[in-house]
Amino acid sequence: MGKITIEQIKAKKGKGKITMLTCYDYSFAKALDATDLDIVLIGDSLANVVLGLEDVKKVSINEMLNHTKAVTGAITRSLVVADMPYASYQKNPKKCLYYAEKFIKAGADAVKIEWFESCPEVISKLVKNKIPVMGHIGLTPQTAHLLGGFKVQGKDKESAKIIMRQAETLCSLGVFAIVLECVPYQLSRYITQAIDVPTIGIGAGKFCNGQVLVLYDVIGLYKRIIPKFVRAYADFSLQTEKIAERFIKDVKSGKFPAPKETFSIKSNEWKKMFVELKQAGCKANNKL
Ligand code: KIV
Repeated sequence: MGKITIEQIKAKKGKGKITMLTCYDYSFAKALDATDLDIVLIGDSLANVVLGLEDVKKVSINEMLNHTKAVTGAITRSLVVADMPYASYQKNPKKCLYYAEKFIKAGADAVKIEWFESCPEVISKLVKNKIPVMGHIGLTPQTAHLLGGFKVQGKDKESAKIIMRQAETLCSLGVFAIVLECVPYQLSRYITQAIDVPTIGIGAGKFCNGQVLVLYDVIGLYKRIIPKFVRAYADFSLQTEKIAERFIKDVKSGKFPAPKETFSIKSNEWKKMFVELKQAGCKANNKL
């Protein structure tokens, strides 16, 4: 199986669902690489679930780049999208191309840009420079403070119209897909039917062309906030706690490490070495 392309993602609209999960490191990426997942997103949710920060605005470009490299080192199949973090375009639209190219050099196939007043300017620059862009509208966590907080968006006529217009603008700018976050399913269905590029929903109901969730939510590892739209398929947090308890017990009781988990040398070699160590002045004092 070859690597999934932007064209294949676009062609999926109306023909089966697109699947996308976030990922932040090599080992989880390796596990995802063994699946049929379409898109891996190095989301700026890294700030919350990996770095423990409350605000996604606090994750730096270098942190995002390092984790992008870790993920792209393992992914051979899925399309890899990297989130452009807050300071890389809202604060300095002129530098956006410079930062986006860094993500592509780090191995990403595309970048994701959340809606912001300067994002049309930024996106057209990236698209002109052949950098594939995924848009993100509805609840945009980097600017949630301007949207009344972490709330469902598009519940009234005015805000629904704004989101619809944003979707149309993104399409005209040439994005290859749009994330719709936290909007009523009726609006996401309406937008999905109205535009030509695939929509990928998170808290946007089942009528989107695909679905995305945060990996640490899906495996039940991140518990600080569990949004209504999350489906946790496991409880990795509890599992990790139980495993750590078993490790502690085994170490304290002397059950770990066992001989098969231990290196050794032949006893006659050790005897010789023991004499040599003593002669060299290395004294063991019977304290274990
Ligand atoms: O940062 C993130 O995790 C996202 C979502 C769409 C899942 O942007």
